[in-house]
Amino acid sequence: MTAVAELSEEDLQAHFEHTIARDQRIEPRDWMPEAYRKTMIRQIAQHAHSEIIGMQPEGNWITRAPSLRRKAILLAKVQDEAGHGLYLYSASTTLGADRADLTDKLINGRQKYSSIFNYPTPTFADVGVIGWLVDGAAICNQVPLCRSSYGPYARAMIRICKEESFHQRQGYELLMTMMRGTDAQREMVQDAVNRWWWPSLMMFGPPDAESPNTAQSMAWKIKRHTNDELRQRFVDMSVPQAEALGVTFPDPDLKWNAERGHYDFGEIDWSELKRVISGDGPCNAERIERRRKAQEEGAWVREAAAAHAAKKGASA
Ligand SMILES: [Fe+2]
Ligand SMILES: [Fe+2]
Repeated sequence: MTAVAELSEEDLQAHFEHTIARDQRIEPRDWMPEAYRKTMIRQIAQHAHSEIIGMQPEGNWITRAPSLRRKAILLAKVQDEAGHGLYLYSASTTLGADRADLTDKLINGRQKYSSIFNYPTPTFADVGVIGWLVDGAAICNQVPLCRSSYGPYARAMIRICKEESFHQRQGYELLMTMMRGTDAQREMVQDAVNRWWWPSLMMFGPPDAESPNTAQSMAWKIKRHTNDELRQRFVDMSVPQAEALGVTFPDPDLKWNAERGHYDFGEIDWSELKRVISGDGPCNAERIERRRKAQEEGAWVREAAAAHAAKKGASA
């Protein structure tokens, strides 16, 4: 039997590449290149931060939901997002990351989260449109991640995707209900769609030509499709849904292209994405401040839990 210690760096690298080539999963105990570990930690942390920060725009409406039924649905949805954050932080610890350190990096602006959560939610229609478009875009992004090469991430994603489909359905159902209501409600839905459409398309990240990490992530099978492929898939999926709902997207260039078999769409304002990602979106400061406050206010809970665990350990 060969001890692992006797394997050379080249053997380990070859074994890693072989595992990826056979479409098998890399597990926490396996050797992996440092760059792979770092990329995985960054991606999982960014994803976890997005789930947690993503609770804020909709959480804004929990106390003002228009009925008990809507409140129960919204509470369940926002709570799911907290759970998604927790699965993902747990997955990151299997790579040697430390959750407190990741939270610290988020609060100090050294790690990013999805640009989409820096937009405000002024009306209740925003809750529906976030479910439909934002969770819908998240599903497009995340379904292929169920086959991501890192085992704990791929497995977390399977459960997350099931919950995201519920999020998408509740949003669409809410919008359907509003569209059957008054003119004012229909206008509210259309206004929310107008505000969220372009930021939703930006969720897929920069165009392929300007996405330097895509090639390596595809080679490692962390990512299965490029940003532009996923964005196109999302547009193609959303247009018939908008028609069924009775709303339009704010893009005069959006039209079916029979030759390509896809919808063409207008140019995205990439300067807006850059601005929002670099911290200058409508709600960036507010989101981070709120997260910082929650972290401070929760300090006593973490201390009490640690003291309790120490006491239990001592008595055992
Ligand atoms: Fe989520
Ligand atoms: Fe969600």
